[in-house]
Amino acid sequence: MRGLDKKISDRVAKIGVVGLGRTGLPLALEFVESGFTVFGVDTDLKKIDSLMRSRSYVLDIPSKSVKRAMNSGRLKFAKRGTIPRNLDCIIICVPTPLNKTKDPDISYILEVIGQIKKNLKQGMLVVLQSTTYPGTTHDLVLPNLEEGGLKCGKDFFLAYSPERFDPGSKEYTTKNIPRVVGGITAACTGISRKLFCTIVEEVHTTSSTQTAEMVKLLENTFRSVNIALINEMAIMCEKLDINVWEVIEKASTKPFGFMPFYPGPGTGGHCIPVDPQYLSWKLRLLDYKARFVELAGEINAEMPEFIVRKITELLNKKSKAVKNSRILLMGIAYKRNSDDYRESPSLDIFGILDSMKAKVSYSDPYIPEFKSGDKKIKSVNLSPAVLSKQDIVVILTDHQRFDFEPVNKHAQLIFDTRNVFNGTRSKKIYTL
Ligand SMILES: NC(=O)c1ccc[n+]([C@@H]2O[C@H](COP(=O)([O-])OP(=O)(O)OC[C@H]3O[C@@H](n4cnc5c(N)ncnc54)[C@H](O)[C@@H]3O)[C@@H](O)[C@H]2O)c1
Repeated sequence: MRGLDKKISDRVAKIGVVGLGRTGLPLALEFVESGFTVFGVDTDLKKIDSLMRSRSYVLDIPSKSVKRAMNSGRLKFAKRGTIPRNLDCIIICVPTPLNKTKDPDISYILEVIGQIKKNLKQGMLVVLQSTTYPGTTHDLVLPNLEEGGLKCGKDFFLAYSPERFDPGSKEYTTKNIPRVVGGITAACTGISRKLFCTIVEEVHTTSSTQTAEMVKLLENTFRSVNIALINEMAIMCEKLDINVWEVIEKASTKPFGFMPFYPGPGTGGHCIPVDPQYLSWKLRLLDYKARFVELAGEINAEMPEFIVRKITELLNKKSKAVKNSRILLMGIAYKRNSDDYRESPSLDIFGILDSMKAKVSYSDPYIPEFKSGDKKIKSVNLSPAVLSKQDIVVILTDHQRFDFEPVNKHAQLIFDTRNVFNGTRSKKIYTL
């Protein structure tokens, strides 16, 4: 450990970041910024190509940050997406999606561990950062890595440290978001803490890798459950003819014991709809039903149906059917100021309306096109002519780049699921 400790202090440890996506790229750049030489590894060679031309493909990372890293000469890339042999530290940031049966798909982690195992050497540190179920690092990664005969905690080090990236946020960056780290042994925790202290202002350690894995799942389950609670509140308020936004605003005046969450068309992205399912899957194996997790997942997943029902009712008020109505969806990204539309509820809403034979279109400044089934759909410009010919405009994502004034001026009917009109309800504007 002494050797690696010194290499980290002297910034001569060679760091590999495996998976240069939304979470891996910012991490790699932060290590370069801190003085390390970083080897980026990604099987998507288009990404490597883009970085080599100093072009960022992650919305939150400006190309100038990539350019600075490239100009430093300390951001290098592995050929053909394979992990180089001579690394001192490897951080794994590959996807952890759900498979078709909604069970964890950890094949990406297994693939990477298979490669690392072949080149594992004395004094090496491996950190898993991908979100996963408790026990992955200890029960799956550890035995795999020890197969070659090296002993964890003595010959090499293994830890888990979750990413807490906040897409679209200018306030929170890799540097100022506190990090949690848990190792297999105290030595593993210590050395990984040392590594992350070079790029993050605050690092907290846990007593085990399982605890660190569970921290991430608590954080995201907390969000999923609270979003589901407020989504159900919105449904109940609708039935009671109460404005849910006003309820939240007034409840937020309580200075303790309340934290506002806001309703919307559902949850999306790689985290909230996915991560709690990892927890629930693990508990199912132990004959326990994670009721909160499952109920929250159900409520959030049903929100697109609820939104479509509201659209149907609003059109009905104007004596129109969904079929053949022109419906414009504002926002395909699941979150404001983001270009991420993985698992986005807007996709479901688009799909349902399309299957009901509506003339559905969308606008999103961050997503010029997307695929719905076999069809390629292109974003439309929000001109007065486009807005005024819609039977209804549905605000699904409140990107700051949207100008809502012309929407208010030219649209005939608006369904505002994000309260961009600040509680305004009129014959023309309806909120959740
Ligand atoms: N996106 C977020 O907001 C966020 C936040 C916290 C945690 N996470 C977690 O981080 C992990 C990664 O998420 P992401 O959003 O960065 O995903 P991403 O899809 O943006 O990036 C993953 C990258 O890994 C690459 N990859 C896949 N297999 C590989 C392999 N065998 N070798 C090398 N590269 C490989 C992919 O090409 C891709 O570029 C997931 O576990 C996710 O749950 C994501």
